[in-house]
Amino acid sequence: MSEPIVWHEASVNRAERSKAKGHRPALLWYTGFSGSGKSTIANAVDRKLFELGCHTYLLDGDNVRHGLNNDLGFGDEDRVENIRRITEVARLFVDAGLIVGTAFISPFRADRAQARALAGDAFIEVFVDTPLAVCEQRDPKGLYKKARAGDIPHFTGISSPYEAPESPEIHLRTGALSIEAAAEQVIDYLRRQGFIFEGAE
Ligand code: ADX
Repeated sequence: MSEPIVWHEASVNRAERSKAKGHRPALLWYTGFSGSGKSTIANAVDRKLFELGCHTYLLDGDNVRHGLNNDLGFGDEDRVENIRRITEVARLFVDAGLIVGTAFISPFRADRAQARALAGDAFIEVFVDTPLAVCEQRDPKGLYKKARAGDIPHFTGISSPYEAPESPEIHLRTGALSIEAAAEQVIDYLRRQGFIFEGAE
């Protein structure tokens, strides 16, 4: 950037915020097909964390597209911009010390890599691994049917690519897991990695 804009250091730092909240900030980045269960699992985790006394916030695909990103569609460029903005917003919440969840298809590896780069050691990729055939069978919003009929262009998995994570921190094979068990797997990870401190039982 060429404008004379200077970055100001904050007077309250990350470590101080973390100590006050009793947990480290984290960015739980859920990714998977539409209908894979991202929002449902992210909401279940959010509820559990809230009940443990953690300070959390959830950014959810459909909701964010109603507001902040209501000018964006589903072509490649718009998806990149969708994820870029979400990454920046999530980063602000992480900076504020929260455990943030983001539930977006986020189909492109490069965009998720960018989020990882910006969030640093707070970043936790959660692959909600529900096969396309299962998502299509569920079709909770009737969108796969429309996409197959050619009524929705660029539909992920049908006419737009999904690049699955290669080494996610958390791999949820939803075929073998209840929502409850999937949420527990995420909470266990946060405990084991020291995001949630001892005492938060
Ligand atoms: S992302 O690819 O840019 O990350 P995002 O998670 O925000 O997608 O939005 C996905 C949701 O938008 C889907 O769950 C579905 O309800 C809806 N949607 C509408 N059109 C499409 C499309 N062409 N591809 C995928 N999802 C779509």
